[in-house]
Amino acid sequence: MDFLYKSFVRRLFFQFEPEMAHCIAVALLKWIDNSYICKNAIRLLFQNESGPVNIFGLNFPNKIGLAAGFDKDGHFPSTASALGFGHVEVGTVTPRPQEGNPKPRLFRLSKEESLVNKMGFNNEGAESMRKRIKKFYPKGERHSPLGINIGKAKETPLEESIKDYTESFNALAEIADYFTLNISSPNTENLRKLQHEDNLRPLLQDIDKVNSNWAKKNKTTKIPCLIKISPDESFSRLEKLIETVLESNIDGIIATNTTSKRPNCIGKDLDGGLSGKSMEALSLETIKFISKLTYGKLPIIGVGGVHNTESLNRKLDSGACMVQLYTAFIYEGPFLASKLAKSLKNHNSWLT
Ligand SMILES: Cc1cc2nc3c(=O)[nH]c(=O)nc-3n(C[C@H](O)[C@H](O)[C@H](O)COP(=O)(O)O)c2cc1C
Repeated sequence: MDFLYKSFVRRLFFQFEPEMAHCIAVALLKWIDNSYICKNAIRLLFQNESGPVNIFGLNFPNKIGLAAGFDKDGHFPSTASALGFGHVEVGTVTPRPQEGNPKPRLFRLSKEESLVNKMGFNNEGAESMRKRIKKFYPKGERHSPLGINIGKAKETPLEESIKDYTESFNALAEIADYFTLNISSPNTENLRKLQHEDNLRPLLQDIDKVNSNWAKKNKTTKIPCLIKISPDESFSRLEKLIETVLESNIDGIIATNTTSKRPNCIGKDLDGGLSGKSMEALSLETIKFISKLTYGKLPIIGVGGVHNTESLNRKLDSGACMVQLYTAFIYEGPFLASKLAKSLKNHNSWLT
């Protein structure tokens, strides 16, 4: 399978400009998502029940998730789950549709199995996602949890950004198994300033209020809420951030988003966030540091450069309880999640 993917399918896709190749892949996955037979054949082939875990009250069939940004509008979460992902995170979504940054905005660094992107939250908006997921992937028909990653719109000034998060939360709560507050993309101006405790504290308080109200109104429990952080913060900044998170009702941390740094000068001529193998060390450093700070009390989902069993184990051994991946899905192919999940059947990490 790997040989087939790398020798033929990947070669074919790489003939296209990166964003065009992504659009073709999304169209294909969308088509599969609409075909009951194809989807279930894939599910049978890539069974994802290997090493289930319960984290923040949700049952995950395995520890490998699809990271945000691949399925920005929730077009194929069911197919991603069928391919072996133990959870799928869609988004980042903003309250209303937005186009994102001008193209070209996605670049391959094939030798390093990395990408640089400056997409800027191109998405169809919260209402469109709510309708689509409600119709095609409703709660109760899922084989793995669905996370919804929400963010601030480009036009929204920093001082008003909380409204974007609460608005998207309310619009999407009925379809979300968990929410991720994206405060770390490098491609939306000022977004990362939300990681500063003075901005983060009110955001987390307001989201918790909205969450409590929603739970009360629907006579249910609150929806788990995570934050996604950047790998570019200094340890002293991270300490403050974690202190704020521990004082709040946040359920976990996703570490990390893409990096604005250029380790070993990789991608130094390109603007945007670097992902894939070249950022693995940076994301690991962040995970290790926050794991030490939180004494393993706060679930960490490790993201950044997971591409094989070794890199997966490095994340878990550093303190992550689950992982997500994006870039390796492109370089290693769609069978990676299922392969990694199977390799973990006997892996003992905390929280199993
Ligand atoms: C093209 C592209 C778009 C992305 N879009 C988002 C996004 O909308 N929201 C988000 O939280 N992360 C986004 N990410 C970051 C990924 O979710 C992930 O954190 C990062 O790529 C590191 O993981 P990886 O090395 O496995 O790709 C994006 C990454 C890429 C490559």
